[in-house]
Amino acid sequence: MSDTAVGTGQEYDAAPYLPVRGGLAAYRRAAAECRGCPLFADATTTVFGRGDPHARMLLVGEQPGDQEDRKGEAFVGPAGRLLAKALREAGIDEEGVYLTNAVKHFKFTQSGPGKRRIHKAPSLREMTACRPWLEAELRLVDPKVVVVLGATAGKAVLGRSFRVGADRGALLPLPGVDGGPQVVATLHPSAVLRADDREAAYAGLVADLRVAAGAL
Ligand code: URA
Repeated sequence: MSDTAVGTGQEYDAAPYLPVRGGLAAYRRAAAECRGCPLFADATTTVFGRGDPHARMLLVGEQPGDQEDRKGEAFVGPAGRLLAKALREAGIDEEGVYLTNAVKHFKFTQSGPGKRRIHKAPSLREMTACRPWLEAELRLVDPKVVVVLGATAGKAVLGRSFRVGADRGALLPLPGVDGGPQVVATLHPSAVLRADDREAAYAGLVADLRVAAGAL
């Protein structure tokens, strides 16, 4: 892949695709046309955030997975189902939260006879290019608590030095924003699904979500 967004001759950047005004619906429509990095080319669709536009809790994942890409909705696959269960167990109403991702297109590799699409982590450049959409969602939803799910979301929201092992489960300030939302980092639900000790990993996710719920 080249260093420039397809057909623009510019560095990767979603900013030129953002609407100048409007609410989440206007941003969602505009994001559908985003060509700010090359990921749009292989993905089925842009997966913008979903949920309560006035949510007090906003959760950020990494990027849509295979099912999210096909359906155009964040967190509707296996990771989303596990997250919904963990939210319920932590006493958080899923209907009342806003769910989004640091990167809005599915990045994958494809190999083998069945051509299964295998998730591939987004690069720092792709995350940085996509950040204006996340910043707009944070500004428009204006939550009290932001939950970052895993390393990619943590780096996108808290900066490149973020480490999930060291930073999870505590109330942290949002860097560069006075009086902004508090941030709680935790494991990504996909990491829970892959964990050797799945039960312990899931209990940790629920415990971290309880910390976030306590800050509402
Ligand atoms: N993983 C994510 O980070 N986000 C989704 O929407 C689905 C899986």
